[in-house]
This record gives sequence, C-alpha cells and structure tokens, in this order.
Amino acid sequence: MASATVWLILILGLRWSGALDSHTPNNDSKLLAALNSSAPAQEVLFHIDIWRNEAPVYSHFDVWTNEAAVGALAPAGSSALESLIRAEVGGDWERGKLVLQLANEAKTLELKEAIYTALWKELQQTKQIYDPMKILQFHEQLRLHTDVPQHLMELIYQAFVHRSAQFLEAPFHTNSPAATFPLVNSLMERLTFSTLDYLRDILEVLYNAVLALETPLSVVERLANFTTNLTQMAQANLQLLAREELRREDPKVQLALQSNLRDLLEQPGFEQEVAVSLRTKIYAHLPKDEQLLYTARKVCIRNVTDNTYIYECPQTYLICSNARDLKKAAYFIQRENSLDSRPKFAFYSAYWRNRYILMEPSAQTGPNANHSITKNVYSRNNINWWRVVYEVDGISLYDAVSEGSVLCGGDPAHWDSEEHHVYTRRASEFAAHRGECTWSLEDCSDAA
Ligand SMILES: *[C@@H]1O[C@H](CO)[C@@H](O)[C@H](O)[C@H]1NC(C)=O
Ligand SMILES: *[C@@H]1O[C@H](CO)[C@@H](O)[C@H](O)[C@H]1NC(C)=O
Ligand SMILES: *[C@@H]1O[C@H](CO)[C@@H](O)[C@H](O)[C@H]1NC(C)=O
Ligand SMILES: *[C@@H]1O[C@H](CO)[C@@H](O)[C@H](O)[C@H]1NC(C)=O
Ligand SMILES: *[C@@H]1O[C@H](CO)[C@@H](O)[C@H](O)[C@H]1NC(C)=O
Ligand SMILES: *[C@@H]1O[C@H](CO)[C@@H](O)[C@H](O)[C@H]1NC(C)=O
Repeated sequence: MASATVWLILILGLRWSGALDSHTPNNDSKLLAALNSSAPAQEVLFHIDIWRNEAPVYSHFDVWTNEAAVGALAPAGSSALESLIRAEVGGDWERGKLVLQLANEAKTLELKEAIYTALWKELQQTKQIYDPMKILQFHEQLRLHTDVPQHLMELIYQAFVHRSAQFLEAPFHTNSPAATFPLVNSLMERLTFSTLDYLRDILEVLYNAVLALETPLSVVERLANFTTNLTQMAQANLQLLAREELRREDPKVQLALQSNLRDLLEQPGFEQEVAVSLRTKIYAHLPKDEQLLYTARKVCIRNVTDNTYIYECPQTYLICSNARDLKKAAYFIQRENSLDSRPKFAFYSAYWRNRYILMEPSAQTGPNANHSITKNVYSRNNINWWRVVYEVDGISLYDAVSEGSVLCGGDPAHWDSEEHHVYTRRASEFAAHRGECTWSLEDCSDAA
C-alpha cells in the first residue's frame, strides 16, 4: 500500500474537515509517530491527546480500561482516537476506507482493534448505516484485515442482516401487487454476489418479523414475486417451508406453497441455474407423483386403486390397462416447456421400441358429440405431449394440444375381451368421472 499517500490524504482530510481547527498540529509527524508507536494503546491515545493540545484527562483511561474490561464494543469511549476518527470520517462513509487503511499502519494489535471499533462506532453515526449494502461493503473490507476481533465482525454482520431484513419486509406488508421495490431488487441483486449463507441468515430474521405480523398465507403468496433469481427463490421457499408457523395443517397455505414451488420449477432456467442440492429439496416437498416426473428416469402409470398398469394392448397398438409387468410398463419421461412456460410431458418406452403414448385427435371429442368416450390412445412412433394436472389423490393427463381430452380407463363396457382399452373423455367430464381418470405414478427407473 502506498502509505505515504494515505498519510497525506489523512492529513489533508484533517485540515479540510476543520474539526481540529485551532488544535491543528503544526508538526504532522507527531501523528505519524503516535500511530506508528509500538507502545500500548493507552499510551498512544495519551500521545494523541497531548498532540491535540487537550489536557490528557485521566478519566479517559478509566473509560478505556473499564469498558475494555467488560468487553464493551466502544472501548475508545470519548477518547481522542474516536475524535480523530470522527474528524477523518467527517460523516462520509466512503472515508471510512481511508481509516481502515490507516489501521494497517498501526503497530500494535490493540491499537488496530481500537481503530476498527471506533470506526464502526463512528460509521453508525452516519446516515448511510441504513443502507445494508454499505454495511456489507464495510464488512467485506474488514474481512481483508485478518486481525479484526471476531465479536466486532459478528456485530457488523448482524447489523447488515437485520438492516437487510428490514428492507425486505416492505413487499410483505404491501397489498398492491403492482407495487415495486427498487431497493429490495438491488439488495437481492447485490446478494447474488455473496454466499447464500447471507441470504439464509437474512431470511430467518425476515420471516421472524413478517410471520409475527402477517398471516402465513399472505407471506406465502407475497413470496411469489420476491426475486427473479431462481437460486434465491429456491432458498426463500425452502426456508419458509421449514417454519413452524406453516406446519399447521392449513390446506390453503399448503396449496399456495406448492403453487410457489411449481412456479419455480416450471421456470425455464430452473434446472440449469439451481444447484442440484437445492433442487432435490424442492422436489422433495412436492406430492410424490409430481416429484417422480422430475426425478425418476422412468415411471409406470398405474391405476390408483387396482394393480393395473398402462402399456400396449395384447393384440393391437391401442393402449390398455394391463397386468403388472414393470418391464413393459416403464416409460421414459420427456419434458418440454410450452410458450407460456408450463411444462408438458411425453412418455416413451424402450421395451415398446421407443413408441410414445399418443392420443389421436378425434372429432367426437367436440362439445356436441354424443359419445363422450373415445378410444383414441395408441402406442406410436410420433411424440405426443401430455399436460399433467396434480390432483389430491394422483394425477390426470390431458392432451397438451387442446387440453380438451383427459385420459381415462377401467370401464369394462369399453373393453374388448382381453383388450382392456383406455380411452379419453371430454375434459369437462373429469369431475364426474374422477375415479376413471385419475392415475398414479410409480418409480420404474430400475425396471429393465
Ligand atoms: C517536526 O518534529 C520533528 C521531531 O519530532 C522535527 O525533527 C521536525 O523538524 C519538525 N518539523 C517541523 C516542520 O516542525
Ligand atoms: C515508524 O517506526 C519505525 C521504527 O519503529 C521507523 O523506522 C519509521 O520511520 C516510523 N515511521 C514513521 C512514519 O514515523
Ligand atoms: C407477481 O407479478 C406478476 C407480474 O409480474 C403479477 O401478475 C402477479 O400478480 C404477482 N403475484 C403476486 C403474488 O403478487
Ligand atoms: C442467483 O444467485 C446465486 C447466489 O445467490 C448466484 O450464484 C447466481 O449467479 C445468481 N444467478 C443469476 C442468474 O444471477
Ligand atoms: C345422442 O344419443 C341420444 C340417446 O342416447 C339420441 O337420442 C340422440 O339422437 C343422439 N344424438 C346424436 C347426434 O347422435
Ligand atoms: C381403476 O380401477 C377401478 C377399478 O377397477 C376403475 O373403476 C377405474 O375406472 C380405474 N381407473 C383408471 C384410471 O383406469
């Protein structure tokens, strides 16, 4: 470091600030000498007092030693060092950096610590302490010094965490979805450059505060637009899920939470951007069927109540409900996002020569058709997309093109001896035929 420059700036700073006005020393080298001293801090401060033409009041030392003895964080008290630092900082946070550099020049650890502590105390007097990003910046500068007392680092870090949490509370107390929070956005953006641990600590304080004042449902809903960074969003959701306040069995809250998670993993960048450790935790909070769609290599699609699985019929290329045979029933999953970023899924089987479960479009599924049931589900080479809807007791599968048909099965009236065909119904009939049109997924990744 160009220490000469620092000293020059310090001295100029002292002169400009005018804080020392009539006491301005006529021989600057005394200041240098004082801070350069390897004497104990008390003596250095004593020298500074003399240098400032102030009577070296003995009680300064009392303050110093007493406070130090009880481990207080302002051992400098009203000491000369503090005045010196105040004059140097001059209400300008940026100038704190100069004082930090100055600490490098201090010869004793004790003096260094006194400077760090007095500087932090002084910076708290400046209005900028309200900006958590400033505190973070100061914390990061301090981290470059290996000799800052741990308790001081912790104190500054906690100030940063609490101030950040206060910032982030605003959106949770605001009803209007149209409200924007530029300061929140820039803080979240700034946090993407720091370890995720910082965000974790901030969220803990944030949730303590907002869950004390808002309902869990409101907190969950407002979390939806918390940040655009998917990693941060994943962390925020996971931490909220872990809160005691949300454990109470409130189905509305659980649904809102699941909806947040679903929105998150349906973001196009989710798999690329979010670390697998976080993703796994997110998936683990989803209902089993939904989880499998993202984590299993292969799934079997089965009847919820009996032991039948869908795959090619014995005689035809139609799809049937068949006896349990995981080798035949295991389907690889393909996933793609629609333009509206909702995911759609396709299922193909290695056993059935990579053929897909495919629904052929059918005129009969129109609203005026008399027969609401259509046998149009085949095993085919072409890809065919399905939209998955998560029900309380399983999933339902809609054709992704029109979303007008839902995959059903199990009614013997539509079977043909050994051929237990599945079929589609009009989507509007789902509610009336829930049992016929709800399926369950099984992890068949290991099926040969
Ligand atoms: C400053 O003090 C030192 C001794 O502490 C002395 O050698 C030097 O001449 C003084 N300089 C001025 C400008 O008074
Ligand atoms: C600091 O002290 C050392 C000896 O301890 C001395 O060599 C050096 O010149 C001093 N620097 C200043 C700026 O007074
Ligand atoms: C989130 O933001 C979108 C627009 O960006 C808005 O349509 C939606 O209502 C917001 N959601 C919440 C819960 O505020
Ligand atoms: C999102 O935040 C994480 C850490 O919080 C960061 O590593 C990542 O780069 C950020 N992603 C983007 C796209 O900014
Ligand atoms: C629909 O079915 C009813 C009886 O089930 C029948 O009376 C009617 O003619 C049919 N309509 C058409 C368009 O086939
Ligand atoms: C499942 O099996 C039951 C009983 O056999 C049947 O009523 C139901 O329609 C079947 N559901 C599906 C989706 O195949």
